[in-house]
Amino acid sequence: MRVHIVGDSAPRLSTVRAMLEQHFTATSELLDKAEIRDGDIAAVVVTADLRLVDSISSLKRITGKLKRIRKRVFLIDQRNRLSVVQAYALGATHVLINPVTKTQLLAKLIDGKPGDVAASRSASGGAEAASAGAASLASMFSAVSAGRPIDIQNAKETASRIAECIEEDGLSDWLATVRRHHEGTYQHCLLVTGIAVDFGLNLRLGKADIERLHSAAMFHDIGKARIPLAVLDKPARLDDAERALIETHPAAGYDALKENAGISPEILDAVRHHHEYLDGSGYPDALCAESISDVVRILTIADIFAALIEERHYKPTMPRDQAYEILLSMHGKLEMPLVAAFRDVALTR
Ligand SMILES: [Fe+2]
Ligand SMILES: [Fe+2]
Repeated sequence: MRVHIVGDSAPRLSTVRAMLEQHFTATSELLDKAEIRDGDIAAVVVTADLRLVDSISSLKRITGKLKRIRKRVFLIDQRNRLSVVQAYALGATHVLINPVTKTQLLAKLIDGKPGDVAASRSASGGAEAASAGAASLASMFSAVSAGRPIDIQNAKETASRIAECIEEDGLSDWLATVRRHHEGTYQHCLLVTGIAVDFGLNLRLGKADIERLHSAAMFHDIGKARIPLAVLDKPARLDDAERALIETHPAAGYDALKENAGISPEILDAVRHHHEYLDGSGYPDALCAESISDVVRILTIADIFAALIEERHYKPTMPRDQAYEILLSMHGKLEMPLVAAFRDVALTR
């Protein structure tokens, strides 16, 4: 397998080459002279400072050629939403933030273990849908943090694509693909979307309800765009002030979305109320059972389950059966007949 590296400086090229040479045939060229000639490249790694105008214009010049390569991993320097969006706009299918370790890079380039048929099958449709989903989330989050309108149609189309993947390949493939390739809030939103769709299918909901669910899931945490990344991605327990800040995200998401055309009242309701509990102990409006809709009840279960099984670099992944036990312990807060119906989704699908 040949991996081609394109970088904006010789030191960057040699750092990446050193990580890859033992595992792949690695070729490389400098970004300003890049031609990407041969057609047998399995993946490309782009390592460049996306704050530099020259890097961006060189990348725009080769975007057409880059997009012919199935896997395009961008290594960027800045953990900020604008750089991530920029990378996706320039053609990335995966984005990693420097300093990147060899293990992280290899994990992006290799889909599962060699010979792992399920992993390589899901790598095609599933990985593409997950990358499109991450790109759509990145652009929504950056729009909200910059106060720009959100591309609602794009988010809905991406969510439909995710729903098709779940229907074709099942939930387990989706969970594995997303956890392997995506991080933080985008990983969470992609997991919630997949789990909510699968839950809807298992409940035999109609097409319109499933669409409502996957859109609500894609948008549900959009208010986190207004929370500083230092708090959002803090690898430790939050203090009271930080927790209070995080708890502003459902109302912030509602405020950001309500100005956009194409968002239905049910979706707005789900975004605002996905942290409410039946016993009135949730936030932001401390609603009681009768005011919490079915879509919200389903979304809340998918959301909590996703948060428990997420892969974070500072915490091990909780096994699915253990996460389901936690849902079962939340009586009074969650609708127990729905939690019972979630059993198959949680454990076997
Ligand atoms: Fe949330
Ligand atoms: Fe969430």
